[in-house]
Amino acid sequence: MLAIIGGSGLTQLSILDVSRRLAVRTPYGEPSGALTFGRIAGEDVVFLARHGYGHTIPPHEVNYRANIWALKEQKVEGVVSVTSVGGIRADMQPGVVAVPHQIIDYTWGRKNTYFEGGEQPVTHIDFTEPYSAPLRRRIIDAARACGEPVVENAVYAATQGPRLETAAEINRIERDGVDVVGMTGMPEAALAREAELNYATIAVVANFAAGRGDSLHAIRMEDIEQVLQQSLARVRRIIEKLASRA
Ligand code: HPA
Repeated sequence: MLAIIGGSGLTQLSILDVSRRLAVRTPYGEPSGALTFGRIAGEDVVFLARHGYGHTIPPHEVNYRANIWALKEQKVEGVVSVTSVGGIRADMQPGVVAVPHQIIDYTWGRKNTYFEGGEQPVTHIDFTEPYSAPLRRRIIDAARACGEPVVENAVYAATQGPRLETAAEINRIERDGVDVVGMTGMPEAALAREAELNYATIAVVANFAAGRGDSLHAIRMEDIEQVLQQSLARVRRIIEKLASRA
């Protein structure tokens, strides 16, 4: 069974034929909402809205540990996260869908590991390649199979939020080698690795990052909404194809 974590604009999956909802508790507290089970293209899928079903949980307050733990307990074969980002690299224009291959973490103060407290031995996970290569390939192949263009490589920056960045911060982040910027990619990806879950991200460029393109002087939230609605229709098609190959 595949798990899908939906981000901004994707608090529900219209293509999901819902069979049941399950409210769970974990040793790390409650996930963002009930797990929604159902089928896409005849295949079992479990869906979780990262920001809650009413979109009320900001990026820095998401209980990433509970979310990943809850999905792990369902014995999912992989987690596909959908997330919106600002575009920095020239080809990362609003509406583009990318499948990041690397991450830089600029977040702070988030509960970012399962390996703390108690008497457990010190554990360091390998995180050289933060996303699952086979799952990324499946996403890219699914997109190709349904004719949806995706950018196959992108370095993702996770910023703390909830505010957007300054233009100078984006300049610095770009010098670091970043292509797209979002607020939820970490610690989600690292926790998935700690939990030994295959994890990959579909990133939807919602806007030019601060100081770029038409975000030269400001980022307009209304524009973000509009772009997301259109692009998420494409993401749903990719997910449908992805699930049918599961
Ligand atoms: N910055 C950070 N996170 C985002 C952005 C952005 O410009 N757009 C969507 N999520």
